[in-house]
Amino acid sequence: MTSATEALLKDDFADAVVRGLSQPRKVIPARYLYDWQGSELFEAITTLPEYYPTRTETGLLDAYAHEIGRIAGTGKVVVEFGSGSSTKTPVFVEAVRAAAYVPIDISADFLRDAAAGLARLLPGLDILPVAADFTKPIALPRAARGRPMIGFFPGSTIGNLTHAAAVDLLRAFRATLGEAPWLAIGIDLRKNPRLIEAAYDDSAGVTSAFNLNLLARINRELGGDIPLDAFEHCALWNDDLGRIEMHLAATRDVRFHAAGETFSLREGETIHTENSHKYTIEEARLLARAAGWRPVRYWTDARGLFSLHLWRGGADIMEP
Ligand code: AVI
Repeated sequence: MTSATEALLKDDFADAVVRGLSQPRKVIPARYLYDWQGSELFEAITTLPEYYPTRTETGLLDAYAHEIGRIAGTGKVVVEFGSGSSTKTPVFVEAVRAAAYVPIDISADFLRDAAAGLARLLPGLDILPVAADFTKPIALPRAARGRPMIGFFPGSTIGNLTHAAAVDLLRAFRATLGEAPWLAIGIDLRKNPRLIEAAYDDSAGVTSAFNLNLLARINRELGGDIPLDAFEHCALWNDDLGRIEMHLAATRDVRFHAAGETFSLREGETIHTENSHKYTIEEARLLARAAGWRPVRYWTDARGLFSLHLWRGGADIMEP
């Protein structure tokens, strides 16, 4: 990353922190959880016994990715949105016999490492990485354009967006993927709230460390003096909005500085740091339709924890 890009990203973080902490209901957008340390902690979360999404989705991909290839047709260009460390990619790319693989991620560093790892694993695969913000329509590399495509968006990352933002994102995917594309997407399901709360407040304290790292990041990058021991991680199920919310709650009245400003919280006041929406199958299908996709098939595990969906986009969509 160039120093000019780094400076811009730092300004963006400082603006978000100052704006978010100046509001009566304090909030910092979830994307700032993922600095280098946060990304490492998130990788650790995915292996926790309580965090069922990753291993359940991996099981669904192992079992059904071939069926996706059979229904959608093999030999397409696979475009993965927010590819991150691309851990679920090999099984999908192999099952649908990808003609090429386009990983899209905002982090050029992550992208380079992941592309190199995948090239070692699948030496014959044509890999065309794109460093970009996938929330907006993207011009794909020339070598991919005009070819049949299937988008891949695992991990239920869609759940971290509000419903309106999720629809916008899914529309942007359609715009990026060109004519009559397909999309394979993982979506976490609504279930017993106790199971969900445990997944976001694990007994080893890794999710707590992930959340608190946001305050440590403010101290590291924005000259903050936030006393970390004055905050605790909370994961609360919001039944009306169908989402688990992560907050950092002040355990006492606290005053601190960050990005050149002074902030204070009363005991019990929280900073809202992340939402993870859970969908029923019907809600997931409604989401697809709202964004102009046609739900084609879905698969769930035996316990009904997680779902894998195959959708089709394009001009041929006709809904009654
Ligand atoms: C990245 N995203 C899908 C995770 C989730 O489950 O919403 C982020 C996460 N936050 C806490 N644990 C996991």
